[in-house]
Amino acid sequence: MYRFVIISFLVVILGANEPILSLPLTEQPISDKVKLGKKLFFDTRLSKDNTISCATCHPIHMGGMDNLEKSFGVNGVEGDVNSPTVLNSGFNFVQFWDGRVRTLEEQVEGPLHNPKEMATNWPETTEKLRKDQQYKELFQKVYNDEITIDHIKNAIAEYERSLIAPGRFDRFLNGDTKAISKIEQEGYELFKSYGCSSCHQGINVGGNMYEKLGVFTPYFYDRNITKADKGRFNVTNDIVHLHEFKVPSLRNVAKTYPYFHDGSVKTLQEAIKIMAKHQVGQSISDEDIEKIVKFLNTLTWEKLEK
Ligand code: HEC
Ligand code: HEC
Repeated sequence: MYRFVIISFLVVILGANEPILSLPLTEQPISDKVKLGKKLFFDTRLSKDNTISCATCHPIHMGGMDNLEKSFGVNGVEGDVNSPTVLNSGFNFVQFWDGRVRTLEEQVEGPLHNPKEMATNWPETTEKLRKDQQYKELFQKVYNDEITIDHIKNAIAEYERSLIAPGRFDRFLNGDTKAISKIEQEGYELFKSYGCSSCHQGINVGGNMYEKLGVFTPYFYDRNITKADKGRFNVTNDIVHLHEFKVPSLRNVAKTYPYFHDGSVKTLQEAIKIMAKHQVGQSISDEDIEKIVKFLNTLTWEKLEK
């Protein structure tokens, strides 16, 4: 008993010093609201021509995004930025690369109306769903109400909040020292010593602050700058926020290639090299890069690890 108390105490003390926090490891029972949200997330009737669902661009089994540089919406139109994962998205402090919305409920408005994504509107969508007797009954059961825009948004958001995807690293943080290998641990130490965890930190290993791409070395000096490249500036119109992005979560990053807001970086190795140069102002050996890659692999949802 005493031993247990002392070990728990140590886990708390040591855990508190780690820049990365564990996701909850115990699975929650799936509520009716989550089931309804899942049905909506996979429903193509949320798009103008009934061809595209949220899951088209955010397939869960692939890590919550489609592995495309840019996604394709209704009529095959290409989007402006790379799809982030929806896994663990409930832990992001704001949504979208430029953080233009706060809640997952508000976020749904984006893809639904975006002409390059689902290209529809609420009157069209609710009309389609209201014709479906099964939906009528489900909304009645969950919300004790008819099908409304707010309920649709809330159910989808609730489903997304249920997409909690812990990896082996979370077991390691909870004291299971064998959950990750020695070399993966070395990768984690490097991740901290290079200063990656000054931005990619907290429960989502990112997703809790904005930072400029190009802190030490400018990133955008030798290319044509697109609107999306301006990042947070598009939201605030303040020059201070030019090229600032929400620091992306690195959870499931081994699955969510290609990388960066524009999907221009194909491999983790290349992404890490760019980060070392532009974000922490250091050159990095290939050996260190490989170790960090190994560490990042431990952040993959165990259900997706083969
Ligand atoms: C055509 C592809 C496409 C469809 C359809 C789509 N998304 Fe997305 N999603 C994206 C892209 C691209 C972004 C990034 C946009 C940005 O940051 O400006 C994104 C961003 C998000 C984010 C923010 C994640 C983060 O880390 O910032 C969430 C959550 C999300 N989508 C959920 C949904 C939901 C829910 C639906 C269905 C209602 C949906 N998406 C439909 C492509 C798509
Ligand atoms: C000063 C803050 C900061 C530091 C330090 C930092 N990053 Fe990043 N990281 C970012 C931002 C911002 C982005 C998004 C850039 C973009 O999409 O244009 C990013 C993107 C990434 C991506 C791509 C993620 C994706 O889904 O597209 C990886 C991988 C990554 N960082 C790894 C690292 C590693 C490894 C280190 C340490 C060598 C590091 N970062 C240091 C802020 C930082």
